[in-house]
Amino acid sequence: MKGNLLEICYLIGSVTFIVGLKMMGNAKTARKGNLYGAIGMTIAILGTIFLFERKDHEGNIVDYSVPGIVYALIFGAIALGTVIGWLTAKKVQMTKMPELVSVFNGMGGACAALISLIELNHLFHTSTEGSHTSYGMMIAIVLGLIIGSVSFSGSIIAFLKLNGTMNKPIRLPAYNLVNNVVMVGVLAFGGYFVMSGGNMLLACCLFGAAILYGILFTVPIGGADMPVVISLLNSFTGLAAAFGGFLYDNKVMLTGGILVGSAGTLLTLVMCKAMNRPLSGVLFGAFGGGGASAAGPDDVKGSIKDVQVSDLAVLMNYSKKVVIVPGYGLAVAQAQHVIHELEMLLEERGVEVKYAIHPVAGRMPGHMNVLLAESNVSYDKLVEMDDINPEFEQTDVVLIVGANDVVNPAAKTDPSSPIYGMPILEVNKAKNVIVNKRSMNAGYAGIDNLLFYDPKCSMFFGDAKKALTELVAELKTME
Ligand code: TAP
Repeated sequence: MKGNLLEICYLIGSVTFIVGLKMMGNAKTARKGNLYGAIGMTIAILGTIFLFERKDHEGNIVDYSVPGIVYALIFGAIALGTVIGWLTAKKVQMTKMPELVSVFNGMGGACAALISLIELNHLFHTSTEGSHTSYGMMIAIVLGLIIGSVSFSGSIIAFLKLNGTMNKPIRLPAYNLVNNVVMVGVLAFGGYFVMSGGNMLLACCLFGAAILYGILFTVPIGGADMPVVISLLNSFTGLAAAFGGFLYDNKVMLTGGILVGSAGTLLTLVMCKAMNRPLSGVLFGAFGGGGASAAGPDDVKGSIKDVQVSDLAVLMNYSKKVVIVPGYGLAVAQAQHVIHELEMLLEERGVEVKYAIHPVAGRMPGHMNVLLAESNVSYDKLVEMDDINPEFEQTDVVLIVGANDVVNPAAKTDPSSPIYGMPILEVNKAKNVIVNKRSMNAGYAGIDNLLFYDPKCSMFFGDAKKALTELVAELKTME
């Protein structure tokens, strides 16, 4: 009876994961999707704690009682984890979100590795003379151990890179060769472990070797490429969790792991495609760490012009249609609230305002959507790149705030550019282009932007929050 109820809990958990993931594909339903997944997970966890039935080798239910202290430890750990997770997620700034995701992902990897270590310890203590654990079971445990450990140490290095503690990629001589040799070594060690039956000392050595590989794999990669790496490590964690699900014959863990694994893999590929970079280039190349060839402003022919806040206010006030292009700088400056204020002010005066959302604007998938949702910008105003591009020709003013690479025409016109082929927002088709940033510094790709030298383009220099606050104040003084 209990077993059937538990299966139903797992079914509810699996279905809510799938429905929740689907809902996360749309900004309007994403919050609810997240909530559904969390409710499903809670049902699955509570079901496991209260409805699990232990069975012997013949499949008969074994009568056993769980000491009260075990429940106290389980709920104590859940309460502690919930408080820490809740507070951290509430307090984290939008720009620090990739760091948080990398730590959370690392914890998932560590869990998968610890489950494998505990399970091995359990096996070595309970197996009797002559008994043999199936190879399938052993392979699942060892793969969970290796993948979980790589994901753990890799995610911690990613976190250190993103928070600036490790701000330079460390590249040992012939690091790609060394890494591949270590990877093959770890896999061969795992193979030997399975074939020989292993012991706890070997399990700890395998754990250490996989941790080392995770570090070696991540340290040469540039800090700015970390979102792609985190997404990849996230898919590793999912895979490790799926092996755990196989190990315990736990359907919800298996479904959840497979979903995380496949979603992480797809996201990694989508990010690479949107950045126009092969995954191999992210993992083995030097781009994104400041190593890209950067054409400085001196290499560019032409001049730039800047616009004063009073002239800009007049231009926007008398426009029919304004499109705002948010980028990484908007997030850094935390200018999402003032941009919304500007939008409402313009709309009150009969100006149509939309936001053009590039798939890789910012530093993580959906960065701009989440940022603008925080300041209650209506979802209907967020227009995807492919839909907004045909509208630029009828746009009076494009206001680019802290974006650079996603509007760089070199992606279309310069085959030698590292971003050549990346789809961009075709802002140069609009009647006027205004760029707000602090200086002529390059963006993530480290390259100059010819758009800034376009005769239609004017620079509105300054920190996004400060400059937009001034613009809003100026607009308010106008009838
Ligand atoms: P970027 O090309 O990185 O440009 C951001 C610009 O913001 C910079 O040029 C900077 O110029 C300006 N800025 C910084 N702080 C500012 C502030 N306080 N106020 C005003 N401006 C400020 O950004 P983007 O156009 O959003 O493009 C994103 C890039 O990141 C793409 O190359 C993409 O491939 C890459 N990337 C994206 C992701 C995802 S999934 N979104 C993941 C990894 C990499 P100043 O210093 O002159 O102010």
